[in-house]
Amino acid sequence: MNRLRIAGTQEQHAVCVRAPGKVNLALLVGSQGADGYHPLVSVFQAVSLYEEVVAAPGSGVSLSVRGAGADQVPRDETNLAWRAALLLADHVGLEPDVALSIDKGVPVAGGMAGGSADAAAALVACDALWGTALGRGELLELAAELGSDVPFCLVGHTAVGTGRGHVLSPVMTRGRQFWAFGMQSAGLSTARAFAAFDEDNAEGGTWWRAFGHEPPTAMMAALRAGDAHALGPALCNDLEATAVAAQPVLVDALRVARRAGALGAIVSGSGPTVAALGRSQQHATAIAAALTAAGVVDTVACAVGGVAGARVVPG
Ligand code: C5P
Repeated sequence: MNRLRIAGTQEQHAVCVRAPGKVNLALLVGSQGADGYHPLVSVFQAVSLYEEVVAAPGSGVSLSVRGAGADQVPRDETNLAWRAALLLADHVGLEPDVALSIDKGVPVAGGMAGGSADAAAALVACDALWGTALGRGELLELAAELGSDVPFCLVGHTAVGTGRGHVLSPVMTRGRQFWAFGMQSAGLSTARAFAAFDEDNAEGGTWWRAFGHEPPTAMMAALRAGDAHALGPALCNDLEATAVAAQPVLVDALRVARRAGALGAIVSGSGPTVAALGRSQQHATAIAAALTAAGVVDTVACAVGGVAGARVVPG
């Protein structure tokens, strides 16, 4: 195919995009399908830990990474942001000329979709840099090709994901949620978490079966009402047991968060990050301090839930 090359002129300005990480308020996992993927019902919430991706004029694709855990992130075509640039260029028939720089704010391999946020941010950034101006629907289709969590990182806020997690419907919510996150420096692989899940869950996970493959009604009601006290006990994750088996210290982290008064505490996604819901921003900070003091996590962060998806940062 003949591809267009956009000349690197003064007209092309570097574009900076911020995309959020996520926590799964509910993660219901069915048994593995013929395509190797697991059907999910996932209640995603975007949180204010951000990946920042700058797309600048370049020749071919190049990539640099900085921030926490940057040394664990690949800088070649296996990186999801790099693949996003290639996919978009291919889709619109352009040469993939872009210098990408990633600043990491979401834990690496933490179960919070940091790599997916990079891909979502790279799609939006390259779309703006190259002036391809794709519609939201087209960007969502490309996002779903890149990974199950990438569409949600584009959309943000709070949404139910079905299928592989990529078919999204927005959830009505009121207010914000205040989170404390406890991170481990050794990450967990999502693919391995699902493989370990299969060993004990031939019929699908406990919550998947308990809620009949539907979003938990008590959780939906709590989100609609903005009732954090009702949301806390409704948090649930079918991958939590596999994450805890891989890193038993997570049991202690969950216990410490609950003792510090967390309204609910779960492993985020495939782990190993622990997410604890506070009553207020101050309470989330106190939970983070308790996790640090107990020595059950390597780092902590606080964030609010329900933030927007990937957006260009003005200026
Ligand atoms: O879609 P994504 O590439 O992010 O998924 C990473 C891995 O997680 C997949 O290769 C698969 O092993 C597993 N996965 C799954 N079922 C899903 C989503 C992910 O088995 N719904």
